[in-house]
Amino acid sequence: MQLPEWLAELGKKRIASYPVEGFVYGMGPEKPKLMLVGEAPGETEIHNGIPFSGRAGVELMKFLERAGVSREEVYITSTVRSRPYKWGEKRTKDDEAVKRKYNRAPSAREILAHAPLLDYEIEQVDAPVIVTLGNIGLKRLCGPEMKVTEAHGRFLKRPVRRLQNLESSEYEWTEKEYVVFPTFHPASIFYNRQLLQLIHEDMDKLRIYLNGYVNDDC
Ligand code: URA
Repeated sequence: MQLPEWLAELGKKRIASYPVEGFVYGMGPEKPKLMLVGEAPGETEIHNGIPFSGRAGVELMKFLERAGVSREEVYITSTVRSRPYKWGEKRTKDDEAVKRKYNRAPSAREILAHAPLLDYEIEQVDAPVIVTLGNIGLKRLCGPEMKVTEAHGRFLKRPVRRLQNLESSEYEWTEKEYVVFPTFHPASIFYNRQLLQLIHEDMDKLRIYLNGYVNDDC
């Protein structure tokens, strides 16, 4: 699935006034086994244009392996396509302070700026399961009251949120129901190692579901 260039340009234009950099397209086959919705690209991704190719991506690939799928079989995208950053200071070995950019979570306005892009992908890819990674993708699709700590590991058959129209800043629910499977963002284990066990349990459920889905289809 190739995002139309006019839509990518619209997203770039709408996000241009915020502290973000780069632009990463979603990636994956036409009929993927599932669609992954992350948060936003990081430094590695904006340099090579490949979603989840940095440190979090290494962990994600291990999770996918546990779920029985490969990168080539899934469509990978994110809620925001540009890297949201904030300036911070880092001390060098010689104790010199140097300014550098750090990742941060995208704001509601940045999420809105790229909402038409994700809406388009959700509709066009029409994956049998949408796996949201972390709170940002989950709240964007299922509503701000959702929490990954409560919703992870469940298959939620439900409408998802999309922009009312291209000019609107309000969301509405799709008529169509999608299967959404929330789990934690792979980077979350860098801060809380205990989540690894929960993610493994989620991946085991996903594997069972995907096997069942494939069998039903045949
Ligand atoms: N986190 C995301 O959500 N997407 C990436 O591509 C990398 C990290």
